[in-house]
Amino acid sequence: MKRKWWQDAIIYQIYIRSFNDSNNDGIGDFNGIIEKLDYLEDLGINAVWVSPHYESPMDDNGYDISDFFKVSEDYGTLEDVKEFIKQAHSRNIKVIFDLVLNHTSDEHEWFRKACDPNDKDHVKYHDYYIWQPPKFDYEGKRQMPTNWRSWFGGPVWEYNEPTDEYYLHIFSKKMPDLNWRNEDMKKELKDMAKWWIDLGVDGFRVDASNHLEKDWTFPEGHPGYEYFSSLPKHHDYLEEMGVDVFLPNDVMAMGEAGGATKEEAIKYCGFEHNEFDMLIHFGHCWADTTDNHLTPGKWAKGDLRVTDIKNSFDRWHQMLQGVGWNLIYWHNHDHPRVISHYGSDKEYHTQSGKMLAYTLYLMPGTPICYQGEEIGMTNVDYDNLEDFRDVEVFTEYNNFKQFGASHEVSMQALRDRSRDNARNPYQWNNNEHGGFSTTTPWMNSNKNYKDINLEQQMNDSDSILNTYKTLFKLRKVLNISDGKMTFLEKDSNDSYIFLNKLEDTELLVVANFRDYDIDVTIDIDFTGFKPLLHNYEKRNVSNRMSLKPFEAIVYKK
Ligand code: GLC
Ligand code: CA
Repeated sequence: MKRKWWQDAIIYQIYIRSFNDSNNDGIGDFNGIIEKLDYLEDLGINAVWVSPHYESPMDDNGYDISDFFKVSEDYGTLEDVKEFIKQAHSRNIKVIFDLVLNHTSDEHEWFRKACDPNDKDHVKYHDYYIWQPPKFDYEGKRQMPTNWRSWFGGPVWEYNEPTDEYYLHIFSKKMPDLNWRNEDMKKELKDMAKWWIDLGVDGFRVDASNHLEKDWTFPEGHPGYEYFSSLPKHHDYLEEMGVDVFLPNDVMAMGEAGGATKEEAIKYCGFEHNEFDMLIHFGHCWADTTDNHLTPGKWAKGDLRVTDIKNSFDRWHQMLQGVGWNLIYWHNHDHPRVISHYGSDKEYHTQSGKMLAYTLYLMPGTPICYQGEEIGMTNVDYDNLEDFRDVEVFTEYNNFKQFGASHEVSMQALRDRSRDNARNPYQWNNNEHGGFSTTTPWMNSNKNYKDINLEQQMNDSDSILNTYKTLFKLRKVLNISDGKMTFLEKDSNDSYIFLNKLEDTELLVVANFRDYDIDVTIDIDFTGFKPLLHNYEKRNVSNRMSLKPFEAIVYKK
């Protein structure tokens, strides 16, 4: 295969709402991104993925789209978008937009028509969505069609009185799912994607891409994910998007899906397959859940399993080695901040920030860096429920109550695990609101912006930021994306040690994921390996090493 730009990309994810506010209305915008393009160029990234920027009532911060062809007024105008693309391209930065194909907003014109039997286009648009008649219990009381649970907590069904039916929404009730069995609907989505491609977009991140097909026999099941996620037929739809839209227009596509088998991984992003170029997968993201029934699922924080993180990265690397292309990242806008999650956001902030950088960015594959990760931004520090913004937070908070969790326990779960952790304003400097805006932002800044901000790290050669810059340069010089990776001490639940064999050199990364000292054994012939990077002090490699909290050393042969 001819080499593609995305194989050498370092993607930077911009959560536009919280990146930079150019007109001081408290909300980030396209002109705000343009103002920071010089910074991004200097950081050394060469592609940006911008979270949804389309017209939206913002129930789920733009993943609920009411008009695919309009830019949200919060973020600017179509002219601003064109200018942004132009300015990014002039700096050799590719532009990736979020493409939401699984659902629309309930305020989208299609859905309004679908709900209204008196609309002249009702029949056509009704079939763009997924409907079921009510069931009735023995007393004749109306019941939902199934007991499936939405990804945000709560039922997946919402009643629509005018048609006396329920519509399906696997996310919030303001996000009705589209019917991918309807050919007209698919055609409209394809034309829409093409419209953005014509504007100059280089790639898409395809949102919620494994949910497109549902089991239309609607069996009971709780949560019932197997009936609306990762059904075999969703691959056909994705293949169709690839063949009709992505491939002929030579745009990059990266999907989003959890829990794929090797066969599926290759379907998604194998060189010989047409679905995507790369896949955002999640195996490493929640490596510390436990059985805590007060706040179940991802909300239940337990001991960290470093082995799970290694196994997931290793598994994906091995599955795609030679047959497809892998993607690596620590977290995105749906997860807690990695430094709070897997590192230390206080005592060992700098050391753990660097350790997490070495371990991720020296692995093969194409990396995505989430905004603020490069300065070690931390989880939110909110004391009140009202400080949170995410639609998921509020549904789940109510669920926690039903499980018997106290307010304090719930608040801690939200501070540890909610998606809002990654969504508060970027910390540019130590001005009020971290320099994000001069007005109170749509979501409060973390109070630690005076200590953790870009300006301060730019002036400190020993900062996390400068480690990121060094690593991004190194990735290019050494072609790190192409390496062959082998883990050592794979069963250790403390260490993270791997070799990355490159064209004419080899890297050895030795790291401690714990906030205490650990001993490691390096059982290879390490002749020729010289220390290259470290987060405490320069040390030679040896058979037995004792590592300080979050210590990490990189060797090169
Ligand atoms: C994806 C997005 C997430 C969004 C959901 C529904 O998982 O990353 O933020 O809420 O899809 O669109
Ligand atoms: Ca603004």
